[in-house]
Amino acid sequence: MRTKVAIIGAGPAGLLLGQLLRTYGIDNVILERHTPDYVLGRIRAGLLEEGTVKLLDEVGAGQRAHAEGLVHDGIELAFGGERHRIDMKAATGKTVMIYGQTEVTLDLMHAREAAGLVSVYEAADVMPHDFDSDHPRVTYLKDGTTHEIDCDFIAGCDGFHGVSRASVKPSAIETFERVYPFGWLGILSDTPPVSPELIYSNHARGFALCTMRSTRRSRYYVQCPLDDRVEDWPDERFWDELKRRLDQRAADSLVTGPAIEKSIAPLRSFVAEPMRFGRLLLAGDAAHIVPPTGAKGLNLAASDAHYLATALREYYDEKTSAGIDHYSATALTRVWKAVRFSWWMTSMLHKFPDTGAFGARIQLAELDYVVNSKSAMTSLSENYVGLPF
Ligand code: APR
Ligand code: PHB
Repeated sequence: MRTKVAIIGAGPAGLLLGQLLRTYGIDNVILERHTPDYVLGRIRAGLLEEGTVKLLDEVGAGQRAHAEGLVHDGIELAFGGERHRIDMKAATGKTVMIYGQTEVTLDLMHAREAAGLVSVYEAADVMPHDFDSDHPRVTYLKDGTTHEIDCDFIAGCDGFHGVSRASVKPSAIETFERVYPFGWLGILSDTPPVSPELIYSNHARGFALCTMRSTRRSRYYVQCPLDDRVEDWPDERFWDELKRRLDQRAADSLVTGPAIEKSIAPLRSFVAEPMRFGRLLLAGDAAHIVPPTGAKGLNLAASDAHYLATALREYYDEKTSAGIDHYSATALTRVWKAVRFSWWMTSMLHKFPDTGAFGARIQLAELDYVVNSKSAMTSLSENYVGLPF
């Protein structure tokens, strides 16, 4: 088989890149290790920047997000027993949309199917080759046979544990990492959200977040020790702990119900530089990870896909590789700002085992500053709604 761009991974980065390329007339094939149902079964964050929604619109996959997504003008920060609203729309003129990553993935899968583009699911042993030459290839195993795809470029959109970054010789990559000393225990429940907007709570017992998927489905998180297991957290214990970390009004009005999903995720900041190795280009979690505080992961995957698709369009339409040459630096400039923001939000809101009472007082001072200073509120808002790309 031959294609212009072989995309490894059918997460949001790979699927969005594939659709953008298609709108530019660039044919592409996606190779995905798992089944579509497996990919759709992974519960992730659900907050879209306006720029991400625009990209979905550009590829004709935005209708359901506009119909079902919830547009939010602000968030609330809870600390010291009180809630304080940050009006992001007033500060920036922009909003965010609550719409699950699973739904984004499903909409992109449908758009790809409708466009008749080739996707190979359950492709085993996917391996990029010869990306330092002008004739890269990707091999994979399917139904007991080894297949080969000749291409012009390989897009590594295969997430943090993928094969793309792992195929590059270690001396060519520099990595930057921070692992946080706690995790997030998250539950999904078919109960109405406790409040119409998201609540981020800094509490002496640890961080909590109230978010949602719709007006009938809620998503809640509490910070937990990294070695906790889901079995340690029966529903009742979760709801009790969440209530203790919220202000009284929220605790009193919280509607509880059975968890339909429960999982624990570690928090990590990670960046690999550069994002391009000859004709292998990384996008999304394959190149960087952010902690979920601020929900930047999916939105960064979207901006990477945009930069990469634009560079490839220039390559084919204008016969210049300038865009490809600048891809890594352009994408990383935005990536690092989101890495900084999600690290800052994480640092301000969580209980850290090693910073003690001093660290906790500094957090409260910072939160009090953020909710009382117009400039600080604007700075948080600008980053939260998404920096331009
Ligand atoms: N071969 C083929 N496919 C692979 C391989 C492999 N060796 N390794 C991983 N994959 C697939 C995974 O099964 C997954 O479907 O690549 C896809 C990567 O998708 P994501 O992990 O969702 O990453 P990305 O598309 O970059 O999306 C970033 O997802 O992880 C969240 O928080 C993150 O919201 C952000 C978004
Ligand atoms: C979510 O809806 O899962 C979510 C929202 C905002 C965050 C993190 C997660 O900051």
